[in-house]
Amino acid sequence: MNVLLTGGAGYIGSHIAVELLDSGHSVIIADDFSNSSPDIPNHITEITGKLLTVCKLDTTDKAGVDKLFYENKPDAVIHLAGFKAVGESVSKPLLYYRNNLDCTLTILEAMEKHRVGKLIFSSSATVYGIPERLPYTEDMKPGVCTNPYGSTKQMIERIITDTALSGWLSAVTLRYFNPVGAHRSGLIGESPRGTPSNLMPLITQIATGKLSELRIYGNDYPTSDGTCVRDYIHVVDLAKGHVKALEYCAKHPGIEVFNLGTGHGISVLELIEVYERVNNVSIPYVMSPRRPGDLPVSFADSTKAEKLLGWKTELTIEDMCRDSFIAAIKSY
Ligand code: WQD
Repeated sequence: MNVLLTGGAGYIGSHIAVELLDSGHSVIIADDFSNSSPDIPNHITEITGKLLTVCKLDTTDKAGVDKLFYENKPDAVIHLAGFKAVGESVSKPLLYYRNNLDCTLTILEAMEKHRVGKLIFSSSATVYGIPERLPYTEDMKPGVCTNPYGSTKQMIERIITDTALSGWLSAVTLRYFNPVGAHRSGLIGESPRGTPSNLMPLITQIATGKLSELRIYGNDYPTSDGTCVRDYIHVVDLAKGHVKALEYCAKHPGIEVFNLGTGHGISVLELIEVYERVNNVSIPYVMSPRRPGDLPVSFADSTKAEKLLGWKTELTIEDMCRDSFIAAIKSY
């Protein structure tokens, strides 16, 4: 299939592009490069040996999106474009609602106009909010989001569900847990602009000397060691889940939702221990107050994706830590 990847030059999008190309699909990347390097498409070609189409585009630009669909005729869309910094969304809610909803509506309207009826949407476990029970399962009702970023994901899921129920769209929503790691080549990875807010890129910046120490936000949570537990998933496993979701979407009309996680949680301190052991580095840290909005524990029940998509994670937490470090070393 000829697949349009909105936000395809980003951390997750670039890994999906590699897996799509390796699976025989052709890829069109639409990205404004506001949070990704223009070199990424070349790295994707270096990894796969295949060319791809690149359109520098703000996906809220109706005329530009219409032109892209007219000229490239995608068979399907994987929609990742959007702002995704939780903290920034709290300080700039209107920017997040405007951008994330506007780009989605623009893409959906172009899909309807050009009769492109297959969509994979990049959602987040954040939509679950505070859990009634764990692990999270897809039949749980979306909870109260603690930030506007998560609220935009909830709203977009609703928009996509209602559009799929109107009949012309087959859609799969993928709820990511905590994507980390990088392609083993080290050519693509998580290279956030400025100081990251997520744990793994911060650990990696400490390991490579860009930062001096980690602040651990809270060690008084009801967990084995008092630090928060998360379901970290290798970005390559996550990307492969999108290829499987695309194959599923091509055969199943309507709407389906899947968790993409390993099904296991590990704590901040446990992750630090693995990272130090695997990479033979030291990660100095200091205990700090809790970060507002953090949940004590979050991890997926990913059996639905295993049963219906024939997908499960294959890479380990050791792979995630090793590949994060290798990509960071190579990017200097
Ligand atoms: C993980 C754990 C922190 C930084 C967020 C978004 C989610 C998704 C992934 C987009 C937490 C602790 C972190 C630090 C720390 N993004 N931590 N010191 O918050 O689980 O999820 O990113 O889809 O939607 O909500 O990930 O990596 O920020 O934090 O102790 O300097 O690490 O408290 O327990 P999070 P994270």
